[in-house]
Amino acid sequence: LVGKYLSDLLLKSRGFGVAAGSRHPATHSTIVFARGDSDLGPEGYTLDVTPTGVRIAAPTDAGLFYGAVTLWQLMTADGRRGPMMLQPLHIEDRPRFAWRGLLLDSARHFQSPTFVEHMIDWMALHKLNVLQWHLTDDQGWRLEIKRYPRLTSVGAWRPGIDRKTGRPIRYGGFYTQAEVQRIVAYAAARHVTIVPEIEMPGHSLSAIVAYPQMGAAPADPKTRGDWGIFPDILDPSDRTYGFMTGVLSEVMDLFPGPWINVGGDEAVKDEWRASPKVQAQIKQLGLANEDALQGWFTARIGGFLAAHGRRMIGWDDILVGGAGLPADAATVSWHADGALKATSAGHDTVIATDPLLYFDHRQSDLVGEPPGRGIVVSLADVYGVEPVSPTMTPEQAAHIIGVQANLWTEHMPTEADVARMAFPRAAALAEVAWTATALKNWESFEARLPGELKRYQPLGLAEDQPAVAPTTIVPPITRRYSQQLELCTNKVSLNLAGVTDAQQAQPYLVDIMNPCWISPRAELGGRTVRVAVTRLPFNFQLGADAAKIVLHPPTTPAGELEVRVDGCTGDPVLRLPLANAAESRNVTVLSGQLPALAGMHDLCFTFTQRKLDPMWVIAWAELGS
Ligand code: ACM
Repeated sequence: LVGKYLSDLLLKSRGFGVAAGSRHPATHSTIVFARGDSDLGPEGYTLDVTPTGVRIAAPTDAGLFYGAVTLWQLMTADGRRGPMMLQPLHIEDRPRFAWRGLLLDSARHFQSPTFVEHMIDWMALHKLNVLQWHLTDDQGWRLEIKRYPRLTSVGAWRPGIDRKTGRPIRYGGFYTQAEVQRIVAYAAARHVTIVPEIEMPGHSLSAIVAYPQMGAAPADPKTRGDWGIFPDILDPSDRTYGFMTGVLSEVMDLFPGPWINVGGDEAVKDEWRASPKVQAQIKQLGLANEDALQGWFTARIGGFLAAHGRRMIGWDDILVGGAGLPADAATVSWHADGALKATSAGHDTVIATDPLLYFDHRQSDLVGEPPGRGIVVSLADVYGVEPVSPTMTPEQAAHIIGVQANLWTEHMPTEADVARMAFPRAAALAEVAWTATALKNWESFEARLPGELKRYQPLGLAEDQPAVAPTTIVPPITRRYSQQLELCTNKVSLNLAGVTDAQQAQPYLVDIMNPCWISPRAELGGRTVRVAVTRLPFNFQLGADAAKIVLHPPTTPAGELEVRVDGCTGDPVLRLPLANAAESRNVTVLSGQLPALAGMHDLCFTFTQRKLDPMWVIAWAELGS
């Protein structure tokens, strides 16, 4: 099996395969896969190249598989097609961590089964071995559950906008159980374990829209295309427990791996606080508060999974409720203090810290980066991640079972977007996850990167280009795109995609909590300023934080772009009316004359408007002569 896999890979990469068989023809050099004992652990292997051939030995199929991947890497190191020479060598190799993961969010945007299989292929060739598959969230339920057909007939769809026509459409999709079985088998053949994630009790709006009786309060289905954190939460009742264990029964049938992820993050408990029924339940159970109720609910689900021989894993938020979780429950640490909390309580944990392991952040500050969250997480940033804090005791460190990067897809509507945000950063992640600390070396990684990118082409993998650009592009002197301006604040900065085709020329970098940009240090002296502006939907569920956004009152009905010098308060030097721009779905260029000031000055741009939605943003600003 592994011989055929290697042969197919070589055919793609070099243009020739190798004949697979069980006999050794005496006249040819051979590649031998040998099962045998070794002390290299369950995924380790040895690889020997000698004048008579190649020998890969490992105690497990996984070890043989990783040996084959290494051989493919050796045979593709020159990036060329056709014959090649291998130099004699001896390799002993084993991974540092057992869990080498990527999370794929198929809930915010749906990816085709074929693309999911591509991701699994690409992961396997980086020796990544766990796919946390985020199958449910507020915006969509993606897994067919035969008991509850409305989860997909209703929950898999939300109102959307057709990019071409701007018209409303029904947007979404789901995976049938037959498709999931195929994907799980495809992953198993590549030694990738899929860990399904079914969110509860928060991030469950799609389930509540499909089955309103599962909600703690009535839901408003109209907002379901928004990003952010919705207030909707499951009712922690026996009925919901019965429903969710029914879901999990089918999930366990589909996913044979040891782990089931139950989400648990960001459960907003306002509805529980407001519900007399839930308050009575808290009293009756003798619980301290709503957090303890989440702990009780999660522990109950954990008991169900344990009784069926599975291990529960959830976001580090599942620790909020205190004791009661199964002792072998594990967490995915996305908060900075998550690993310390989990390991101190004796739970295993996977390191997936925000922002460095959140691959929805942009990879550079270049204009050509695809949309994403605003903090820059570069290839070098990812390579530098050390999953085990030096302050941990050996007992705590032993609970760090691995490392994972998360591909949240709010800002990745297409499969090409997902691939670009994942790669090449997943190559850096792979070395964090696999390579012994003493052997990690950024300069070596950087030197090997061009060869790695050449391997991607025949695999159909199109990585992010700006992330590997050798030098930054020198911006034109006069025009600065939003990515080249400074944000006045960095509260929730996003590199947002436009909606209409005309808006899509480049993303828009904006702090949605404070849309305000500074163009630093320029000679203004009586020049004109031209600013390209447009409006984007404000589709973010921010809860109480929405009240912290300051709206500047307009002086004309459609509002203005206000331009200030050397600061963002005080009287503007220019007020450019937005009346024409407000009529347009495209980008509109405003212009005005700056005062005659000597020397270098900063310009600050803000908008006036009466409501949050839609939100004005800047595409670029430039100074005229
Ligand atoms: C998360 O980012 N809510 C896990």
